[in-house]
Amino acid sequence: MTDRPPTDSRSLTHDPTPENWTPQSWRTRGDGTAGQYAYPDLAALDRACARLAELPPLVTSWEIERLKAHIAQAQRGRRFILQGGDCAETIADCRPASITNKLKILLQMSLVLIHGLRMPVTRVGRFAGQYAKPRSSPTEQGDYNGSTIELPSYFGDLINRAEFTPAARTPDPDLLVQGYQHAAMTLNFIRSLLDGGFADLHHPEYWDLSFFHNADLSPKRKAQYEHMSRTLADGLAFMENLGEQKVEESTRVDFFTSHEGLNLHYEAAQTRRVPRRDGWYDLTTHLPWIGERTRQPDGPHIEFFRGIRNPVGVKVGPNTTPDDLMRLIDTLNPHDEPGKLILIARMGVAKVQGSLPPLLDRVRAEGRTVLWMSDPMHGNGIKTAAGIKTRSFDDILLELERTVDAHREAGTILGGVHFELTGEDVTECIGGAAGVGEHDLTRNYASPCDPRLNYQQSLELAFLLAGAMGR
Ligand code: PEP
Ligand code: CO
Repeated sequence: MTDRPPTDSRSLTHDPTPENWTPQSWRTRGDGTAGQYAYPDLAALDRACARLAELPPLVTSWEIERLKAHIAQAQRGRRFILQGGDCAETIADCRPASITNKLKILLQMSLVLIHGLRMPVTRVGRFAGQYAKPRSSPTEQGDYNGSTIELPSYFGDLINRAEFTPAARTPDPDLLVQGYQHAAMTLNFIRSLLDGGFADLHHPEYWDLSFFHNADLSPKRKAQYEHMSRTLADGLAFMENLGEQKVEESTRVDFFTSHEGLNLHYEAAQTRRVPRRDGWYDLTTHLPWIGERTRQPDGPHIEFFRGIRNPVGVKVGPNTTPDDLMRLIDTLNPHDEPGKLILIARMGVAKVQGSLPPLLDRVRAEGRTVLWMSDPMHGNGIKTAAGIKTRSFDDILLELERTVDAHREAGTILGGVHFELTGEDVTECIGGAAGVGEHDLTRNYASPCDPRLNYQQSLELAFLLAGAMGR
């Protein structure tokens, strides 16, 4: 997010906007809510969207094009994309410590990956707008003033509020503007931190790897971690020896933002033409993605996202057939533009070996340019006997390893990973070297939505991923 506006007056020879597409054409394919929630006050919704449409953009087209160039490199195996952050960002959590911790863990993971994969890594946060959540059920039952009632589910702070009251759960258009404002504050702080250099990150003593020593690990794995953290520390010390200037340059970080483009009112309101470039840009984020629940080929989300110039991600679950996938690719990237399309496979550890290879084979056989990314989180949700939503570190790791193997066999490239994680010491996923057990889950479970990897689990996963890919 640090480069400058284009100085050339580069212009495409033709407008890349697809035929019959406008930022509002998705409205002909349903109300954009996938039948999940409804705004009772449509006049207030129009007012909120009109306000959003006149506010400054959160990101710029040149940043978006720069990310597209990074993704194109990753498609050729020259770069790796690390995407991660909360399942659901909340407005209440727009606080400096939580933002800094998220940046730190992504940066540290990326340094592990740069070192292990020997290639540049681009960091994409699930932040500054990850406020809208699809739910498996549009309503839920709960206790309100002593009686059991049914209310809309909580769809994230962009749409309604988590508290179980009729007022809180009513979709509120004002939250679109509040979400935008908090995304802007988050981004403002991130941009300042990055400009300031985040300087002490490359000091080895900053890295808290002590939990590896205390953990209950096999001697082999312990030795492996010790070796990796030693070589990493050497690498960081080496960078340090290059001098302050070089360190600044070599760690000069590009961070990009992403979120699920669930709420099309929000996305469309900030979708604009920009000077000296053709086409339309969704300026709420660099990289919007389409969720597993809203990627129906005739649905409003595919209609909206086929028309914008941003790179677009789409979640690909285990029931996707090769034909389904080709249809999505043809719609979202008909001209096979490099850097444009990310397929985020989220199969689950039990299904990935059956579901992923036919898709990899087909896309390769058709010669289509995509970035394959692995989301080893969303196919691996489990519930404990006590009814707590969690994920097992071992399942996440095994899905990643199986994904790496599947790409190796298919001769395709795994170009990125997508994690739900936080820089805090939460206890939401079980397992990992620091040993979060089922009984620890209640200790610090803070996610309003899916369980996230904590700081230690995230860092450990980066080590293990680097090992699996480097093998
Ligand atoms: C998510 O990424 O938080 C999510 C809801 O994922 P999916 O659409 O893959 O279920
Ligand atoms: Co999630």
